[in-house]
Amino acid sequence: MVDVQFQTLGAGGLSAVVADALVLVIASTSLPKDLDRAAAALIDDVVEQGDFALRAGCKLYVHRPSGWRAPRLTLVMAADDSAKAFKQACVAGLGMLPMGAKHAAVALVGSAQVAGEAHAQALAAAAADCTYLYRLTKPSAKAINALAKVTLLGDKAQALGAKAGAARGRAIAQGVTVAREMANRPGNHCTPTHLGDEAKRIGKQYGFKVEVFGPKDIERLGMGSFLAVSKGSTQPPRFIVMHYQGAGPKAAPHVLVGKGITFDSGGISLKPGAEMDEMKFDMGGAASVLGTMTAIGELKPKVNVVALIPTCENMPSGDALKPGDVIKSMSGQTIEVLNTDAEGRLILCDALTYAERFKPASVVDIATLTGACVIALGHHLSGLFSPDDALAASLLAAGEQAVDPAWRMPLAADYDEGLKSNFADMANIAGRAGGSITAAMFLKRYTGNYRWAHLDIAGTAWKSGAAKGATGRPVGLLTHYLLAQVK
Ligand code: BES
Ligand code: MN
Ligand code: ZN
Repeated sequence: MVDVQFQTLGAGGLSAVVADALVLVIASTSLPKDLDRAAAALIDDVVEQGDFALRAGCKLYVHRPSGWRAPRLTLVMAADDSAKAFKQACVAGLGMLPMGAKHAAVALVGSAQVAGEAHAQALAAAAADCTYLYRLTKPSAKAINALAKVTLLGDKAQALGAKAGAARGRAIAQGVTVAREMANRPGNHCTPTHLGDEAKRIGKQYGFKVEVFGPKDIERLGMGSFLAVSKGSTQPPRFIVMHYQGAGPKAAPHVLVGKGITFDSGGISLKPGAEMDEMKFDMGGAASVLGTMTAIGELKPKVNVVALIPTCENMPSGDALKPGDVIKSMSGQTIEVLNTDAEGRLILCDALTYAERFKPASVVDIATLTGACVIALGHHLSGLFSPDDALAASLLAAGEQAVDPAWRMPLAADYDEGLKSNFADMANIAGRAGGSITAAMFLKRYTGNYRWAHLDIAGTAWKSGAAKGATGRPVGLLTHYLLAQVK
């Protein structure tokens, strides 16, 4: 993990900073008069030469700038002075550094804002973003930079906040890295058993209790819906329960529930072949929960958290769940399975019932639940569903603070009608229209006497195309949410 520090900028100014590299993030299209003199001269020069412009997206690497202590320098423009733009600019600026740069100092220049807490946190996220490398099944992968440490330069007045932001950012980055790594691992490596082992590893590392239940326990618990999804696969299912105790034993815990389908073929309602490989990330919810528990383990906030992960494969076989089958959930409600590809809700519903025993302060489930959510919101905002306005507001605020935003979607009784069945208490799908909402309405039928929210991360947990891979979202949102619950 990249080390993240804060340092007050000395009287010598930017050109006196000692580091392997200096990244200047410029957050303004016109330079202020009181800008650091050496920086102003350098920027004027490169603009005059036509090598750089004060325009969003512009960046330039300068090797051995004369008169500067740092042997490498990058100039990078930020779209504005928000933490989000700062993070993007840091990714671009750090990403340009050659292999000789192990320690980079980063300064925000040309902005009315001074670098503080939010910037330190954004820098930590950016540093982790551009150093993460997937190697498990590609050990030949070459590192793209050698960054080991980044230092945010700033004002003494911001030191306290910036140091806190750096520590929080670093812990979240560690969690994001765990989530990315788990979701990137292929289905033949990242099995339900493997997720259980990773959960135990995290529990051991941070000293909290982790239980991993197998098929017999799951059956004994009466989780008939979860078990039905797992039947088509030779991989045994696991039900993972993690207990983080940061507050007194009597304090009601916040429960996180993560969808852990380690491969979603669709089952008998088989998915089309194109991009089916990407369905290894259908445990992105579970991965984000493991990542959040890692961040929480690092930060040790005074709050109690229980993590629940139902995990299995969704496969076709002679033993697999079939369209038309009626199954019985742990809640006692029966479900007619009209499409075996709507399996996420079938494993989550039993975990939501299990959550009741904790008399939780809140329950948040996180799932790559519907393609419909990708159509509705694309890849930038996670879908947030909750009947509880206050809970929804705190999750939205956490998303903003973490630069891991969500957008509230509706839950309304009218959407529930499509779930009617002649053969069971409900069907597992409604029509195509409003698919992410009807999925949330299905889950709502299993929420007990507790405050509940659902995050559909189908569009945000994964990137397709050339940069194909997991994003680690919404670890930032969830960690900020839990930190805000400290009393
Ligand atoms: N895991 C998928 C949802 C998904 C799709 C996640 C694309 C990420 C990207 C889920 O299990 C699924 O297959 N949902 C179906 C539901 C439908 C059968 C009602 C879908 O979205 O098509
Ligand atoms: Mn599916
Ligand atoms: Zn799925």
